[in-house]
Amino acid sequence: MKIICRCEDVTEEEIVQKIHEGYRTMDDLKRVIRVTMGLCQGKGCRRHIAKIISKELGIPIEEIRQPTYRPPTKPIPISATVDKK
Ligand code: FES
Repeated sequence: MKIICRCEDVTEEEIVQKIHEGYRTMDDLKRVIRVTMGLCQGKGCRRHIAKIISKELGIPIEEIRQPTYRPPTKPIPISATVDKK
């Protein structure tokens, strides 16, 4: 068992299974098994997931679209959001 998304505890086997069930894009996988939605926002897993999709579907890795992101894309301290007047 190889964990690919450490933040969401998703294994390579789960990702491969979902790809073969028809979830063929990063956004599909994000919605169904929450990959790239953890604390690191996919920094630790998105390249590995793209490689798995590429291998399983026979698509060049450059053609794998990255998932959509919503700000903030990296963790910031709460104090950075508070008005300090
Ligand atoms: S390792 Fe996947 S979201 Fe952090």
